[in-house]
Amino acid sequence: MDKFRIEGGRRLEGTLRISGAKNAALPAMAAALLTSKPVCLRNIPRVRDIITMGKLLAHMDARVELGAMPPTDITIQAEKISDAEAPYELVRTMRASILTLGPLMGRLGYARVSLPGGCAIGARPIDLHLKALERMGAQIITTHGYVEARVPADKRLRGGHIVFEKITVTGTENVLMAATLAEGETLIENAAREPEVADLADLLIKMGAQIEGAGTSTLRIRGVSSLHGATHAVIPDRIEAGTFLVAAPITGGELVLEGCAPQHLTAVLWKLAEVGVEIRQEAADRLRVRSGGKLAAADVTTEEYPGFATDMQAQYMVLATQATGASVITETIFENRFMHASEMDRMGANISVEGRQAVVRGPTPLSGSEVIASDLRASASLVLAGLVANGSTLIDRVYHIDRGYERIEEKLSAVGALIERVRQGRS
Ligand code: UD1
Repeated sequence: MDKFRIEGGRRLEGTLRISGAKNAALPAMAAALLTSKPVCLRNIPRVRDIITMGKLLAHMDARVELGAMPPTDITIQAEKISDAEAPYELVRTMRASILTLGPLMGRLGYARVSLPGGCAIGARPIDLHLKALERMGAQIITTHGYVEARVPADKRLRGGHIVFEKITVTGTENVLMAATLAEGETLIENAAREPEVADLADLLIKMGAQIEGAGTSTLRIRGVSSLHGATHAVIPDRIEAGTFLVAAPITGGELVLEGCAPQHLTAVLWKLAEVGVEIRQEAADRLRVRSGGKLAAADVTTEEYPGFATDMQAQYMVLATQATGASVITETIFENRFMHASEMDRMGANISVEGRQAVVRGPTPLSGSEVIASDLRASASLVLAGLVANGSTLIDRVYHIDRGYERIEEKLSAVGALIERVRQGRS
């Protein structure tokens, strides 16, 4: 398993290009299962989850062609689907494999998908995905660790009225995809409003789907009998951008982020401004960020979009360790998402966690230590902590970060960080 070694205390300065959003690319790839024609996706980040999704689609007999490096096209053609199964060995490495369930049900009326199980940040059930598909006529059983869903012979899924009890991003995406090929109209209420859901709707519309309300909490989908191919560039990764927006002020540096989507970052931009980070929008897709001097503590609560993203909570915690005063961080989306706090404490932070709240008292100098990454965003936060810390930080299990950040060590090195990958056999 690879590690990162970071020599902290270096000021970051320069320009970084933001990659395409992993969480938009994954559902877009799954959407290619809805048609026999080629779907060409652009701005796809070269991260491990994308490779895993490619393997999963190939397992189902889709043709998956990655464009040349660097970026970043991928063409997928699922002319026929010989095996509508997402096997455990792929699902266990990437929960987003569940995104194949909706399109398989829409196109074939049959799917067998391994149950993802829990993960480091909480139980993460998929009951809401399944209930919604049942309302659309699917018969679902779970057996031997797999969800087996089918519509009765000679029938298609039928449109239905879905009211999600709780907002779910991939749940909304699954039902949206399934509904494009269902019989009749589907109304989804309490839908997730994340930009990645709207981006998926954009792609589906290009493929011939009839969708109204993209980006809102009410989606109306009129089912069509077939979809066609399309070309689509996925949106920039707002979480990667948010991570670098924190990297600049904590190192006393100044960064320009190119190719980002500031309109998707409003809650983060506001919160960072409250802390005292100076951010200027220089163009529609360019932000300049630097510390505005002293950083002041500010409370934050994670929420569904357009609120402050749970995927930015761990990175924000590092900023809070460098701000003066007590910051109360409340996590409302996942029940167990503070694993990074104890690692940061080992580096000298003062963080007390109780239930879903963490209180960070700052500023505290951090000192380089050996730490372990527990999940994707936690590992990003440990990289940030390593950039601030005195001395050397060694982060174990960076395969988590490789799942979702494209060449983070190369990007950070290019703006002055001392970070290297320590290769340890095959990870
Ligand atoms: C997606 C993102 C992930 C992000 C999360 C929340 C992808 C691939 N992943 O994950 O990066 O952290 O949104 O913004 O886009 N829930 C249920 N039952 C369900 C589904 C969800 O109880 O059937 C709960 C979850 O346990 C969680 C909450 O609802 O507490 C939100 O989860 P959800 O939005 O579904 O997260 P994901 O789509 O898995």
